Amino acid sequence: MCGIIGYVGSKDAVPIIVNGLRKLEYRGYDSAGIAAFGKSGFFDVVKQKGRLAALEARLTDYPVEGFMGIGHTRWATHGEPSDVNSHPHLGNQGKIAVVHNGIIENYKQLKERLERKNVYFSSQTDSEVIAQLAEYYYNGDLMETVIKVANRLEGSYALGIMCVDAPDILIAIKKDNPLIIGISEHGQFIASDVPAVLEHTNKVYYLNDKEIAVLKKDSVQFFNIDKEMIKKPLETVTWSPDSAEKCGYPHFMLKEIMEQPKVLRDTINSAIGNGKNKNVMNKLDCSKFNKIVITACGSAYNSGVVAKYVFERLCRFPSIEVELASEFRYKDAVIDERTLVVLISQSGETADTIAAMRESKSKGAVTLSIVNVVGSTVSKESDFCLFTAAGPEIAVATTKAFSAQLALLYLLAIQFAVKLGKLTQESEQELLKEITALPGKADKILEQIDDIQKYASTCVGYKSIFFIGRNIDYATALEGSLKLKEISYIHSEAYAGGELKHGTISLIEEDTLVVAISNCERLYGKIMNNVEQVISRGAKVLLISGSAEKTPDERISMIRLPAVFELFAPSLSVIALQLFSYYVAANKGLDIDKPRNLAKSVTVE
Ligand code: G6P
Repeated sequence: MCGIIGYVGSKDAVPIIVNGLRKLEYRGYDSAGIAAFGKSGFFDVVKQKGRLAALEARLTDYPVEGFMGIGHTRWATHGEPSDVNSHPHLGNQGKIAVVHNGIIENYKQLKERLERKNVYFSSQTDSEVIAQLAEYYYNGDLMETVIKVANRLEGSYALGIMCVDAPDILIAIKKDNPLIIGISEHGQFIASDVPAVLEHTNKVYYLNDKEIAVLKKDSVQFFNIDKEMIKKPLETVTWSPDSAEKCGYPHFMLKEIMEQPKVLRDTINSAIGNGKNKNVMNKLDCSKFNKIVITACGSAYNSGVVAKYVFERLCRFPSIEVELASEFRYKDAVIDERTLVVLISQSGETADTIAAMRESKSKGAVTLSIVNVVGSTVSKESDFCLFTAAGPEIAVATTKAFSAQLALLYLLAIQFAVKLGKLTQESEQELLKEITALPGKADKILEQIDDIQKYASTCVGYKSIFFIGRNIDYATALEGSLKLKEISYIHSEAYAGGELKHGTISLIEEDTLVVAISNCERLYGKIMNNVEQVISRGAKVLLISGSAEKTPDERISMIRLPAVFELFAPSLSVIALQLFSYYVAANKGLDIDKPRNLAKSVTVE
């Protein structure tokens, strides 16, 4: 939530920062701002409520330039979206400028103390207190000031800080929010995420909590909070600059949906070829666990729900729980060193997932994460990490990372089952064959894109769309429903087919659509009973199925999936559901990559 970027170098900082903000917009987009240190010897600040495009328009009217600058794209937490609440924030004397991602939990106390000392606050944000406090403490030594400020702040932060007295120094520090340092031939960067700097460099440092980076035009130094210099490894990112571009697609979401066959292939290869993921899986001592808890948020949680069905069926493991990380972190979970906690997160920075991980570790549990972003907090702090090979995912609503998570979870379940002696070598080989066939089958669904688009264009008028499924198809229904409501703003809920008669059926009326998912052959008849029940109450039905023997009658529309082993069917159904949601939203003309009120990376509670 909120994206920050900073640059110091030999080029004009402003276009570089604006381009970087474009790549960070997925983190928040209710306002944006930039501060450049130019020839004037002061900060030139332009801040604008609205999308980044509004800031760009403003910059055309009020052009600013400089060789150093910081920029911010905001997802409001404290204070409504407005010009004045946008970042960067400056202290009263205009000496220090700050961009902040995170939440300062003790800002009220700090603000009150500063106000008693006649410091005037112009915004309603928690972030402004950082700039004011920095000016209050400033004694000519910017790094010392930053350390003093950091020692007073409670909460989470990633900060970019500039001072008019140090026109060639950009300082960064973080706690519980991500920050990377990029090194290029023409200058140095700070950024919330790698895509923001990819067009300039693939060489990055990952900042740890309470580490300070001091950036100059041609050098970067790192210090700990005691002002001692430290060394950090320079890492090379494997993502290509193209991977953070739309490449001709109207939206990142569509591009990312279409990338799924490749993402599945790369992720599967990383775990069954000679990739790092295979080594990690081999290292796991599965026999030591008597409980598995899978925990995550949003779509990552839904992939955990799928995994529970797969683990139960393949491993016959007695205790597998799936928990929302936001609930798990506060429930005083009964876990110990014999528990494996599986954390799933595209970003590796979701605040609740990080908290769940730390809580699990403090109770002695072993933590295994499934993460997309290398260098992220979850990937670094968990005991074991499997990386999804999804590449950068920019659209707020996840698609390809979800698919990659499923693939790794299937493979993990197979590994567990083998190690626990629940699978013969023959069955293992059969399952692996099924998994390696998934990318090809995903291609077959993408070939139906025109039909899905056509059908979706008839669905924009529905008041409510319900998703039903039984067993593992119910897990897919959860994701289908989430995807649709996230981007189309149509009310939607997912139900287990058997639950329909326990309440939901009262909501079925003429202008509702029911999307029924059916890949469990043995339950096909049951879900079709549900379909009949909703049709007789006036609903329209879309059936997504690989198990239907023939196309049902004309009352039912259908997306047919390739035949697939029941437990891996979510990987196919979900692609059809993603395309359906995408085209419903596209037909409504919505801003699909940046749905209202949402942010891709929820780094605050
Ligand atoms: C947000 C995103 C979702 C994502 C969830 C968890 O809500 O919009 O697409 O599933 O966060 O994020 P994570 O990075 O932990 O997977």
